[in-house]
Amino acid sequence: MQIGPYKLRNRLVLAPMAGVTDRPFRQLCKSLGAGLAVSEMVSCNSALWGSRQTLRRMNHEGEVDPRAVQIAGADPTMMAEAARFNVERGAQIIDINMGCPAKKVCHVMAGSALLQNERLVRQILDAVVAAVDVPVTLKLRTGWDPENRNAVAVAQIAEQAGVQALAIHGRTRACGYRGEAEYQTIRNVKQAVSIPVIANGDITGPEKARQVLELTGADAVMIGRAAQGRPWIFREIEHYLSTGQLLPEPGAKEIRTIMIEHINNLYEFYGEYTGVRIARKHIGWYSKGQRNGAEFRRRVNCAESAEEQMGIMQDFFNSLITPAEMAA
Ligand SMILES: Cc1cc2nc3c(=O)[nH]c(=O)nc-3n(C[C@H](O)[C@H](O)[C@H](O)COP(=O)(O)O)c2cc1C
Repeated sequence: MQIGPYKLRNRLVLAPMAGVTDRPFRQLCKSLGAGLAVSEMVSCNSALWGSRQTLRRMNHEGEVDPRAVQIAGADPTMMAEAARFNVERGAQIIDINMGCPAKKVCHVMAGSALLQNERLVRQILDAVVAAVDVPVTLKLRTGWDPENRNAVAVAQIAEQAGVQALAIHGRTRACGYRGEAEYQTIRNVKQAVSIPVIANGDITGPEKARQVLELTGADAVMIGRAAQGRPWIFREIEHYLSTGQLLPEPGAKEIRTIMIEHINNLYEFYGEYTGVRIARKHIGWYSKGQRNGAEFRRRVNCAESAEEQMGIMQDFFNSLITPAEMAA
């Protein structure tokens, strides 16, 4: 798939997830097969740009190209400024969030709430596209409620504005995360525009990815929650799409190796205090479904230092490694 000048290595995209898709996680997913990884959203509110959190979100050191940054907000001028600001700091693709409730960040009707106001959508997209000379992409839901699935109209507005790719989560804003994602609207969008379309929502593994690609005709799939604690999902899907064969699940030994590197990168990126706290949720996800996982999470969540956290984690995963894996 191609977005502007960037040819992606495959059809797999890591979804932007606030609090999850920081630089260490994006790098990890890219190394395990994600062709594109969109950063956590950066508020359009310039008062927040000097904050430690925003500066961290804008840190792309060592990240594999292309570096995509998501912005959120409802004011066309502020959104244009935010886009310019991020491009000056290394963003190679600007992604606009109309896909999730961004109220918390901007204190206004931003994110998917914008889908109710197609005029404002057009103004925002025109302003952002005019502000930067990198590709602009848009993430949206299928509409604002099941009676108002206007993704096709919004997609056409986006294409006219010069947006170069669309990612569509197969739920309306009103649906939150309830029910199952619906892919017919994504198919309708794909048929209505000629820019690349990325299908998103409830893609949990290789077979579902292929099914969604076939159902929607989309150019790529975007994966969010299923990559939490399972960043190798990209490698699994990539392999399945190219060979039709399912890769075996990684064993405890490989998970341990991936996790240790990931958690060490979190310590380095955030510093020990915050790193230990951010690591807790990832460690929890990695241990989901493992034998004695609940007891392990209770213990590891009490660890206050990197050394203690790493020790408990290594002991736990060492106890899960089978003799066959150990010998391999
Ligand atoms: C913890 C979390 C944070 C999210 N943050 C964002 C965000 O900042 N911007 C955005 O456009 N979508 C955000 N989303 C929505 C995801 O990008 C994605 O559209 C949604 O989770 C559906 O995909 P999935 O079923 O593969 O998880 C977030 C989702 C989760 C679970």
